[in-house]
Amino acid sequence: MNLKQYIREIPDFPSKGIVFKDITPLLNSPIAMEEAANALMELVGNQKIDKVVGMESRGFFFASLLALKLKAGFVPVRKPAKLPADKISITYGLEYGTDTLEIHKDAIQAGDRVLVHDDVLATGGTAKATCELVERLGGEVVQCNFLMVLELLNGEEKLNGYEIRTLMRYR
Ligand code: PRP
Ligand code: MG
Repeated sequence: MNLKQYIREIPDFPSKGIVFKDITPLLNSPIAMEEAANALMELVGNQKIDKVVGMESRGFFFASLLALKLKAGFVPVRKPAKLPADKISITYGLEYGTDTLEIHKDAIQAGDRVLVHDDVLATGGTAKATCELVERLGGEVVQCNFLMVLELLNGEEKLNGYEIRTLMRYR
């Protein structure tokens, strides 16, 4: 199955000149969802995983599915002021301004083998910050996988040193 046929391209969203890659048609198709989930599992192979970390919001869709399939715990990395218990935060730079992500301190134990999943790797800011949160808690990032990589934004370079895997590539 060519999963790209389930990705809808929306010109000039969210701003002029950007062609947004909309994954909702994929989410809307149980056949495509199953295919994508199985393909992501193949990227992981037989590596042992203790926790799957997904980033709010669009990372949650598949990260929780993968956690279930891997018999691993699911850990949400959330935008600021959403997590209720003891947490750590990281603030990272964007082209204009900054963003912050948070994780519960007790979500990862030292030595946990962690799979990081998000829908899209663009500049890599989100994924890099997430890997840092995991490592600050003593986790080991075994792989970062994505539905798609937007190659022109050089996220793979930013994640240099990590195992990066993706189902789809766009220029
Ligand atoms: C999008 C996407 C990734 C991130 C990738 O999330 O879902 O999480 O951007 O960009 P980066 O590699 O440049 O960091 P967004 O912040 O739009 O929020 P959402 O998942 O809640 O829709
Ligand atoms: Mg996101």
